[in-house]
Amino acid sequence: MTYRTAHQNHPISLPGSPRAAQILHIQYPLPLMTDGPALNEDTTSEALRALLAEIDSALADAENAITTADSLPRLDELRINYLGKKGRLAGLNQKFGQLSAEEKPLAGRQLNNRKAEIVRIEKERREQLEAAEIRRRLEAEAIDVTLPGAAIASGHLHPLERTRREMEAIFRSMGFRVMESPEIETEWINFEALNIAADHPARDMQDTFFTERGRVLRTHTSGNQIRTMTELEPPLAIISTGKVYRCDSDVTHSPMFYQTEGYLVDKNISMGHLKGVLNAFLQSFFGANVGTRFRPSFFPFTEPSAEVDVECIFCKGSGCRVCSQTGWLEVLGCGMIHPTVLRNCGIDPENWSGFAFGVGLDRFTMLKYGINNIRLLYENDLRFLTQF
Ligand code: DAH
Repeated sequence: MTYRTAHQNHPISLPGSPRAAQILHIQYPLPLMTDGPALNEDTTSEALRALLAEIDSALADAENAITTADSLPRLDELRINYLGKKGRLAGLNQKFGQLSAEEKPLAGRQLNNRKAEIVRIEKERREQLEAAEIRRRLEAEAIDVTLPGAAIASGHLHPLERTRREMEAIFRSMGFRVMESPEIETEWINFEALNIAADHPARDMQDTFFTERGRVLRTHTSGNQIRTMTELEPPLAIISTGKVYRCDSDVTHSPMFYQTEGYLVDKNISMGHLKGVLNAFLQSFFGANVGTRFRPSFFPFTEPSAEVDVECIFCKGSGCRVCSQTGWLEVLGCGMIHPTVLRNCGIDPENWSGFAFGVGLDRFTMLKYGINNIRLLYENDLRFLTQF
């Protein structure tokens, strides 16, 4: 018989002594890889027979348990219990002490061969369970690519912003420029220059938040007239939208709300131009057939002044709760720019004239979309906002 060692890849003759085995780094006594002589009932001791029976029964148990293990964790458990360092088969090794020197290799061979068989069975069962686990996961995690996709909710513009853009588009189409001015204003720009003197009763019309050094949170966007007319030369046609502040709060009033101010200054501008431009705007915004009416009113910065109503867009003028049965909804204030205002901005009222108007953006939005509480516009409640 010839063997190969790990170190010497050429055939060597079987060494006959432990010393030779040591030199060649091979195990001694050599493990017996083939079945040896059959065990003979008569020549074997009681102890060997008992041990062999024990080996048989332990290995039969192991085989039985392993082939029926129904999960990988269970199989791990069995591997440790039977094949582990402190497992049942290792325990059998300790009983070899009872055997004679001739019997030991016999029992060892029996144990090793059967153990190798169990190792193979365990590996086979492991592969089966792993394959089953992969199959189970593939089924559980299967993705049906034919299902319709989950729509991604996309945002949209806030109704106030939509109204602002719509208004700006209408006025741009009529040649107006869009400009901005600050929310913290001087009293001069917010009041005095607009012909609202400190002791003028008109100041009471607007409950004001005063800040430091004679400044106010602007109570209206009309101050934009003063800023732009002071800086720019007429002819001018400008609209300006932004936040305004008043000390006022109920279902139709919020301490912060939005206004759009607009004005036009040119030669020979009359009330007729005012009506033409505002009718065109209102009909474009609320619908081509909406009726409008101009009622005389008072504002310190215009003369004459008017308030404009549109036919109630909910009842078409027949009278309902929204229009308090009048058939009309008040939507804006307007008038011919007061000569004092033009003069305050360095514009000669003998050469130039103009009209101005102020629109509540919140009110327009509420009317357009049928919203009855102004606070809904500022609460950012998605249940409300997603309706638009
Ligand atoms: N500034 C006014 C307000 O806040 C609205 C207004 C009315 C503006 C008439 C104007 C106007 O330009 O001519 O109540």
